[in-house]
Amino acid sequence: MNGPGRFITLEGGEGTGKSTLIAGLQDALAARGHEVVVTREPGGTPLAEAVRNLALHPPEGETWSPLAHALLMNTSREDHLRNLIRPALARGAWVICDRFADSTRAYQSIDGVSLAQLMSIEAMVVGDTRPDLTLILDAAPDALAERRRQRNVSDVFEQKEAAFHERVRAAFLEIAENEPHRCAVIDALGSPETVLGAALATIDDRMEAS
Ligand code: TYD
Repeated sequence: MNGPGRFITLEGGEGTGKSTLIAGLQDALAARGHEVVVTREPGGTPLAEAVRNLALHPPEGETWSPLAHALLMNTSREDHLRNLIRPALARGAWVICDRFADSTRAYQSIDGVSLAQLMSIEAMVVGDTRPDLTLILDAAPDALAERRRQRNVSDVFEQKEAAFHERVRAAFLEIAENEPHRCAVIDALGSPETVLGAALATIDDRMEAS
């Protein structure tokens, strides 16, 4: 149970528009009079941001093993939950988190960590602080790549293999299928207004208004 607050997480592959949706949700929910706390993973607190840096940017020439990387994600999550997410929920805020435990399930299982191990670490770290709602932004990687090309954006998305993006997509869709009560899949290819409208409709549908 998350107390009086609401805990919403956003998930999806790179380039699906999570940041744009979060900005829209922040404004819309604040306009309804809620205290809205926007945060991200890995990160969100000073210690968790420090761990993020260590995880995503290891010393030159070094790489974390898949298990060590999964543990770092969870180390940052433990601090984030304890020092930011749980206190915010306890005082009644709506917490919107850009990526959360489903990203670990998706990315670290693709890296080769067993789902059983990931789920047992998740249970230990997340405990009862499960998202009330997880919005999964979904699109075919080809369509996202095309959209980026049209906008002349060249970034890491283009540099990773298409097969990797397909696996990330499939992993999130599998989570949604297994936990339909918590998760909602949103078509990421709509305009920012359409995506925001779909997200708000889902929030209204799944959660009490106050
Ligand atoms: P970020 O720049 O925030 O990516 P994005 O804009 O796609 O959200 O970098 C976060 C990266 O870390 C992203 O590639 C996903 C990955 N990640 C994991 O591998 N495991 C996790 O548990 C989380 C939260 C993120």
